[in-house]
Amino acid sequence: MKSDFASEKEIILETTGDGSPTLYVPEWDEHYHSMNGAVAESLHVYIKAGLNQYIRSLENTGKELQVLELGFGAGLNALLTAIEAERQKVKIRYTALEKYPLSQTITDQLYYLLEHKDLFRRIHQSAWEIPVSITPYFTLQKSTIDFVDYDFPAGYDVVYYDAFAPDKQPEVWSPEIFAGLFSAMNPGGILTTYCAKGSVRRMMLQAGFFVERIPGAPGKREMLRACVSGNTDYRKEKKEQKQQIMYAPLV
Ligand SMILES: C[S@@+](CC[C@H](N)C(=O)[O-])C[C@H]1O[C@@H](n2cnc3c(N)ncnc32)[C@H](O)[C@@H]1O
Repeated sequence: MKSDFASEKEIILETTGDGSPTLYVPEWDEHYHSMNGAVAESLHVYIKAGLNQYIRSLENTGKELQVLELGFGAGLNALLTAIEAERQKVKIRYTALEKYPLSQTITDQLYYLLEHKDLFRRIHQSAWEIPVSITPYFTLQKSTIDFVDYDFPAGYDVVYYDAFAPDKQPEVWSPEIFAGLFSAMNPGGILTTYCAKGSVRRMMLQAGFFVERIPGAPGKREMLRACVSGNTDYRKEKKEQKQQIMYAPLV
Protein backbone atom coordinates (compact mmCIF):
# COMPACT_ATOMS: atom_id res chain seq x y z
CA MET A 1 0.00 0.00 0.00
CA LYS A 2 1.38 3.41 -0.93
CA SER A 3 1.82 6.05 1.76
CA ASP A 4 -0.51 8.41 -0.13
CA PHE A 5 -3.20 5.73 0.00
CA ALA A 6 -5.85 8.01 1.49
CA SER A 7 -5.32 10.85 -0.99
CA GLU A 8 -8.47 11.88 -2.84
CA LYS A 9 -7.26 10.85 -6.29
CA GLU A 10 -7.05 7.20 -5.37
CA ILE A 11 -10.39 6.87 -3.60
CA ILE A 12 -13.74 6.94 -5.39
CA LEU A 13 -17.16 7.42 -3.81
CA GLU A 14 -19.71 4.78 -4.87
CA THR A 15 -23.28 3.92 -3.91
CA THR A 16 -24.09 0.48 -2.52
CA GLY A 17 -27.22 -1.68 -2.84
CA ASP A 18 -29.07 -0.12 0.11
CA GLY A 19 -28.41 3.41 -1.18
CA SER A 20 -25.64 4.15 1.32
CA PRO A 21 -22.18 5.16 0.09
CA THR A 22 -18.85 3.41 0.24
CA LEU A 23 -15.34 4.13 -0.96
CA TYR A 24 -13.50 2.27 -3.68
CA VAL A 25 -9.72 1.95 -3.89
CA PRO A 26 -8.93 1.35 -7.61
CA GLU A 27 -5.32 0.42 -6.94
CA TRP A 28 -6.47 -2.58 -4.91
CA ASP A 29 -9.83 -3.08 -6.55
CA GLU A 30 -11.24 -3.02 -3.01
CA HIS A 31 -14.28 -1.40 -1.35
CA TYR A 32 -14.59 -0.20 2.23
CA HIS A 33 -17.95 -1.97 2.59
CA SER A 34 -20.10 -4.56 0.88
CA MET A 35 -21.53 -3.36 -2.43
CA ASN A 36 -24.77 -5.08 -1.40
CA GLY A 37 -25.29 -2.37 1.23
CA ALA A 38 -22.79 -0.57 3.45
CA VAL A 39 -25.22 0.27 6.25
CA ALA A 40 -26.89 -3.14 5.99
CA GLU A 41 -23.51 -4.88 6.35
CA SER A 42 -22.31 -2.78 9.31
CA LEU A 43 -25.61 -3.21 11.12
CA HIS A 44 -25.62 -6.94 10.57
CA VAL A 45 -21.99 -7.84 11.26
CA TYR A 46 -20.95 -5.38 13.95
CA ILE A 47 -24.09 -4.07 15.65
CA LYS A 48 -26.44 -7.05 15.66
CA ALA A 49 -23.99 -9.97 15.70
CA GLY A 50 -21.37 -8.23 17.87
CA LEU A 51 -22.39 -5.31 20.03
CA ASN A 52 -26.02 -6.27 20.70
CA GLN A 53 -25.11 -9.89 21.31
CA TYR A 54 -22.69 -8.71 24.00
CA ILE A 55 -25.13 -6.19 25.51
CA ARG A 56 -27.72 -8.96 25.87
CA SER A 57 -25.26 -10.95 27.97
CA LEU A 58 -24.71 -8.04 30.39
CA GLU A 59 -28.01 -8.20 32.23
CA ASN A 60 -28.16 -4.44 32.93
CA THR A 61 -24.96 -4.20 34.97
CA GLY A 62 -24.60 -0.55 33.94
CA LYS A 63 -20.99 -1.24 33.01
CA GLU A 64 -19.23 0.96 30.43
CA LEU A 65 -18.36 -1.18 27.42
CA GLN A 66 -14.98 -1.08 25.75
CA VAL A 67 -15.29 -1.47 21.99
CA LEU A 68 -12.27 -1.74 19.71
CA GLU A 69 -12.47 -1.26 15.96
CA LEU A 70 -9.72 -2.38 13.60
CA GLY A 71 -10.05 -0.05 10.62
CA PHE A 72 -11.99 3.18 11.38
CA GLY A 73 -12.24 3.94 7.65
CA ALA A 74 -15.39 5.88 6.76
CA GLY A 75 -16.58 5.94 10.38
CA LEU A 76 -19.78 4.02 9.62
CA ASN A 77 -19.37 1.45 12.42
CA ALA A 78 -18.58 4.24 14.88
CA LEU A 79 -21.73 6.11 13.85
CA LEU A 80 -23.98 3.06 14.19
CA THR A 81 -22.44 2.24 17.56
CA ALA A 82 -23.00 5.80 18.84
CA ILE A 83 -26.64 5.58 17.74
CA GLU A 84 -27.04 2.21 19.44
CA ALA A 85 -25.41 3.44 22.67
CA GLU A 86 -27.96 6.26 22.86
CA ARG A 87 -30.86 4.02 21.92
CA GLN A 88 -30.04 1.39 24.54
CA LYS A 89 -28.67 3.84 27.13
CA VAL A 90 -25.42 1.89 27.37
CA LYS A 91 -22.15 3.74 27.90
CA ILE A 92 -19.53 2.88 25.32
CA ARG A 93 -15.86 3.80 25.12
CA TYR A 94 -14.90 3.25 21.50
CA THR A 95 -11.31 2.95 20.31
CA ALA A 96 -10.83 3.05 16.55
CA LEU A 97 -7.47 2.23 14.97
CA GLU A 98 -6.69 3.54 11.52
CA LYS A 99 -3.40 3.63 9.65
CA TYR A 100 -4.64 5.81 6.78
CA PRO A 101 -7.14 8.41 8.02
CA LEU A 102 -9.28 9.84 5.23
CA SER A 103 -9.08 13.51 4.35
CA GLN A 104 -11.96 15.80 5.32
CA THR A 105 -12.64 16.38 1.62
CA ILE A 106 -13.59 12.71 1.40
CA THR A 107 -15.45 12.38 4.70
CA ASP A 108 -17.51 15.50 3.88
CA GLN A 109 -18.87 13.66 0.85
CA LEU A 110 -20.08 10.68 2.87
CA TYR A 111 -23.73 10.69 3.86
CA TYR A 112 -25.09 8.05 6.22
CA LEU A 113 -28.51 8.19 7.88
CA LEU A 114 -29.24 11.86 7.28
CA GLU A 115 -31.14 12.27 10.55
CA HIS A 116 -27.79 11.61 12.28
CA LYS A 117 -25.79 13.94 10.05
CA ASP A 118 -24.60 16.08 12.96
CA LEU A 119 -23.46 13.05 14.98
CA PHE A 120 -21.52 11.75 11.98
CA ARG A 121 -19.87 15.13 11.49
CA ARG A 122 -18.83 15.24 15.17
CA ILE A 123 -17.34 11.74 14.88
CA HIS A 124 -15.20 12.83 11.94
CA GLN A 125 -14.28 16.24 13.29
CA SER A 126 -13.25 14.95 16.74
CA ALA A 127 -9.55 15.12 17.55
CA TRP A 128 -7.35 12.08 17.01
CA GLU A 129 -5.27 10.35 19.72
CA ILE A 130 -7.37 11.57 22.69
CA PRO A 131 -10.71 10.41 24.11
CA VAL A 132 -13.54 12.75 23.05
CA SER A 133 -17.03 12.65 24.53
CA ILE A 134 -19.27 12.65 21.46
CA THR A 135 -22.54 12.06 23.35
CA PRO A 136 -23.28 11.27 27.02
CA TYR A 137 -23.17 7.58 26.07
CA PHE A 138 -20.39 7.50 23.49
CA THR A 139 -16.72 8.39 23.97
CA LEU A 140 -14.48 8.02 20.95
CA GLN A 141 -10.73 7.70 20.66
CA LYS A 142 -9.43 7.57 17.10
CA SER A 143 -5.78 6.54 16.85
CA THR A 144 -3.50 6.55 13.85
CA ILE A 145 -2.04 3.14 14.57
CA ASP A 146 -0.94 0.29 12.37
CA PHE A 147 -2.53 -2.69 14.10
CA VAL A 148 -0.02 -5.12 12.60
CA ASP A 149 2.59 -5.48 15.40
CA TYR A 150 0.41 -3.41 17.77
CA ASP A 151 0.53 -4.45 21.42
CA PHE A 152 -3.20 -4.34 22.26
CA PRO A 153 -3.84 -3.09 25.79
CA ALA A 154 -6.18 -5.24 27.89
CA GLY A 155 -9.85 -4.66 28.60
CA TYR A 156 -11.92 -4.93 25.41
CA ASP A 157 -15.43 -6.38 25.48
CA VAL A 158 -16.33 -6.12 21.81
CA VAL A 159 -14.00 -6.07 18.80
CA TYR A 160 -14.97 -5.13 15.24
CA TYR A 161 -12.43 -6.73 12.90
CA ASP A 162 -13.04 -4.62 9.81
CA ALA A 163 -9.81 -4.76 7.82
CA PHE A 164 -9.64 -5.02 4.04
CA ALA A 165 -10.10 -8.55 2.71
CA PRO A 166 -7.36 -11.16 3.32
CA ASP A 167 -6.64 -11.58 -0.40
CA LYS A 168 -5.98 -7.82 -0.67
CA GLN A 169 -4.17 -7.28 2.61
CA PRO A 170 -2.99 -10.65 4.02
CA GLU A 171 -0.68 -9.06 6.61
CA VAL A 172 -3.64 -7.75 8.64
CA TRP A 173 -5.08 -11.24 9.13
CA SER A 174 -2.39 -13.01 11.12
CA PRO A 175 -2.30 -15.54 13.97
CA GLU A 176 -0.28 -12.98 15.97
CA ILE A 177 -3.01 -10.33 15.71
CA PHE A 178 -5.72 -12.77 16.78
CA ALA A 179 -3.55 -14.02 19.66
CA GLY A 180 -2.96 -10.41 20.75
CA LEU A 181 -6.67 -9.66 20.63
CA PHE A 182 -7.58 -12.83 22.51
CA SER A 183 -5.21 -11.83 25.34
CA ALA A 184 -6.55 -8.26 25.35
CA MET A 185 -10.25 -9.17 25.48
CA ASN A 186 -12.30 -9.64 28.63
CA PRO A 187 -13.92 -13.02 29.42
CA GLY A 188 -17.20 -13.22 27.52
CA GLY A 189 -15.88 -10.73 24.94
CA ILE A 190 -17.09 -10.96 21.34
CA LEU A 191 -15.20 -10.32 18.09
CA THR A 192 -17.03 -10.20 14.77
CA THR A 193 -15.92 -9.87 11.18
CA TYR A 194 -17.60 -9.97 7.77
CA CYS A 195 -14.91 -12.45 6.72
CA ALA A 196 -15.81 -16.14 6.68
CA LYS A 197 -12.58 -17.63 5.34
CA GLY A 198 -11.51 -20.99 6.77
CA SER A 199 -7.94 -19.76 7.25
CA VAL A 200 -9.19 -16.83 9.39
CA ARG A 201 -11.44 -19.14 11.40
CA ARG A 202 -8.46 -21.42 12.08
CA MET A 203 -6.37 -18.45 13.28
CA MET A 204 -9.16 -17.55 15.70
CA LEU A 205 -9.42 -21.11 17.01
CA GLN A 206 -5.65 -21.33 17.38
CA ALA A 207 -5.68 -18.10 19.41
CA GLY A 208 -8.19 -19.68 21.81
CA PHE A 209 -11.50 -18.21 20.65
CA PHE A 210 -14.77 -20.14 20.56
CA VAL A 211 -15.83 -19.58 16.92
CA GLU A 212 -19.22 -19.63 15.22
CA ARG A 213 -20.09 -19.38 11.55
CA ILE A 214 -23.30 -17.39 11.40
CA PRO A 215 -25.36 -16.02 8.49
CA GLY A 216 -23.62 -13.16 6.73
CA ALA A 217 -24.82 -9.70 5.71
CA PRO A 218 -27.06 -9.39 2.60
CA GLY A 219 -25.40 -11.16 -0.32
CA LYS A 220 -22.95 -13.08 1.90
CA ARG A 221 -23.66 -16.58 3.09
CA GLU A 222 -21.60 -16.52 6.28
CA MET A 223 -19.55 -14.40 8.67
CA LEU A 224 -17.49 -15.23 11.76
CA ARG A 225 -18.17 -14.53 15.40
CA ALA A 226 -15.41 -15.36 17.92
CA CYS A 227 -15.97 -15.34 21.67
CA VAL A 228 -13.62 -15.38 24.63
CA SER A 229 -15.26 -18.10 26.61
CA GLY A 230 -15.85 -17.38 30.29
CA ASN A 231 -15.96 -21.17 30.57
CA THR A 232 -12.50 -22.57 31.21
CA ASP A 233 -13.59 -26.02 30.02
CA TYR A 234 -13.27 -24.89 26.44
CA ARG A 235 -13.25 -28.38 24.87
CA LYS A 236 -16.47 -29.31 26.64
CA GLU A 237 -18.16 -26.13 25.48
CA LYS A 238 -17.03 -26.72 21.92
CA LYS A 239 -18.42 -30.25 21.98
CA GLU A 240 -21.71 -28.99 23.35
CA GLN A 241 -21.88 -26.35 20.67
CA LYS A 242 -21.50 -28.96 17.92
CA GLN A 243 -24.65 -30.61 19.20
CA GLN A 244 -26.52 -27.32 18.92
CA ILE A 245 -27.76 -25.63 15.77
CA MET A 246 -24.77 -24.61 13.66
CA TYR A 247 -26.31 -21.31 12.60
CA ALA A 248 -27.18 -19.14 15.55
CA PRO A 249 -30.09 -16.78 14.78
CA LEU A 250 -29.48 -13.04 14.64
CA VAL A 251 -31.89 -10.77 16.45
C1 LIG B 1 -12.96 -2.16 5.36
S1 LIG B 1 -12.28 -0.58 5.73
C2 LIG B 1 -13.04 -0.18 7.28
C3 LIG B 1 -14.44 0.42 7.19
C4 LIG B 1 -14.85 1.07 8.50
N1 LIG B 1 -14.82 0.16 9.61
C5 LIG B 1 -16.18 1.80 8.46
O1 LIG B 1 -17.04 1.59 9.34
O2 LIG B 1 -16.36 2.63 7.57
C6 LIG B 1 -10.66 -1.08 6.29
C7 LIG B 1 -9.86 0.03 6.95
O3 LIG B 1 -8.67 -0.52 7.53
C8 LIG B 1 -7.64 0.43 7.39
N2 LIG B 1 -6.34 -0.25 7.51
C9 LIG B 1 -5.71 -0.99 6.57
N3 LIG B 1 -4.57 -1.50 7.06
C10 LIG B 1 -4.45 -1.05 8.33
C11 LIG B 1 -3.49 -1.25 9.35
N4 LIG B 1 -2.42 -2.01 9.13
N5 LIG B 1 -3.66 -0.65 10.54
C12 LIG B 1 -4.77 0.13 10.75
N6 LIG B 1 -5.73 0.33 9.82
C13 LIG B 1 -5.59 -0.25 8.62
C14 LIG B 1 -7.89 1.00 6.00
O4 LIG B 1 -7.24 2.23 5.81
C15 LIG B 1 -9.41 1.11 6.00
O5 LIG B 1 -9.81 2.36 6.48
